[in-house]
Amino acid sequence: MSKTSPAVHVLIAAAGSGERMTSFDVPKQYIPLCGKAILRHTVEKFISIDAIQSINILINPEHKNHYSEALIGIKDVRTIKGSKTRKNSIYNGLKEILKVKNDDIILIHDAARPLIAREDIKKAIEAAVENGASSVAHKVNDTLYSNQESNTVDRTHLWAIQTPQVFRYDIIKKAHEELANDDSFTDDRGMVEAIGHKVTLVEGSQENIKITTENDLKMAEKLLDKGKTITATGFDVHAFEDGSSVRLGGIDIPHDKSLKGHSDADIVLHAITDAILGCINEGDIGTHFPPTDPQWKDCDSAVFLNAAIEKLKNKNGFVDFIDVTIMAEEPKIGPHREAMQNRISDITNVDAGNISIKATTTEGLGFTGRKEGIACQCAVTITRY
Ligand code: CTP
Ligand code: MG
Repeated sequence: MSKTSPAVHVLIAAAGSGERMTSFDVPKQYIPLCGKAILRHTVEKFISIDAIQSINILINPEHKNHYSEALIGIKDVRTIKGSKTRKNSIYNGLKEILKVKNDDIILIHDAARPLIAREDIKKAIEAAVENGASSVAHKVNDTLYSNQESNTVDRTHLWAIQTPQVFRYDIIKKAHEELANDDSFTDDRGMVEAIGHKVTLVEGSQENIKITTENDLKMAEKLLDKGKTITATGFDVHAFEDGSSVRLGGIDIPHDKSLKGHSDADIVLHAITDAILGCINEGDIGTHFPPTDPQWKDCDSAVFLNAAIEKLKNKNGFVDFIDVTIMAEEPKIGPHREAMQNRISDITNVDAGNISIKATTTEGLGFTGRKEGIACQCAVTITRY
């Protein structure tokens, strides 16, 4: 999408109570699916998509504890109070989005559809930018039979409607305002059509199921199992020079030397960046940010790590675990371990509990032992869906 495209605001409907999913004691959007909450899977699909300006999650305030636990480490999302019905939850969302303009784009998605493909999200946004309104849907393949009419229904023109549904703000707002007292609608597309606006259908993957019952949960587990786990390593070294602090893991540690480098010489972030690029076979940090390029002079290495995370997300990959070993005779790393974990979590959106920072001396041996510099080795494990 071009830079002049309108801003996109995402509304994720997550305020329901999941009454058809009876065997869990948390609402369905907070049930763990392959190790993380359904809502977290869903939200992660929207992070780092170009053009998305805000992600707003409609929640029931009574679920606040479940919510905080499910989205730990995820930044830059906002919660809005939902309501008793899905329709009213969405209407609340439309009224509460910040800094929204009439020709901005609103993307509405069910938390209960964590298997949405990022490609389908992008296609739906593009269609709404073009036509004002779109919905992801798929053609019905099964033979349909009505036992009221004892008749096979012609399926030629039948589509199963899903979310995301994407609209220009003024259109979806008008639909909700005009139809505020009509409870007959089961989705926003239907409301927009009822006020006379055509909604473009975007054919999406059939895997985008709405998790409604225990059976759907089993199916989602099987579909997600296709995720491929990959581990790759990264390694970096920088020499000491005169100075007063070293930048490691995104934080400045006071020391009587600094690390010499073209950027901020943060070997920890460099090693993590390389390991992530390794997981997606995208070369190394120098391929993307050549040290000969003056624009990276003194650059905060968070920029490199962010870019690697973005590339990973664009390939439907998510970091499971980061394991770092710093080889240094000095400074002492232990007292700064937690601050590093938190800073790396800030940059990557990976839960700090899945970021391990270890340190070792090299017993006086080699260049690290002679205190000429520091080395860092890192392994990153990701899953690609
Ligand atoms: N939803 C919402 N506000 C409501 C009801 C539903 O935001 N008052 C959300 C749900 O959390 C879900 C999506 O809308 O992500 C689709 O609704 P549905 O699948 O029906 O979820 P629930 O209403 O939670 O489930 P059930 O109907 O089985 O109770
Ligand atoms: Mg419901």
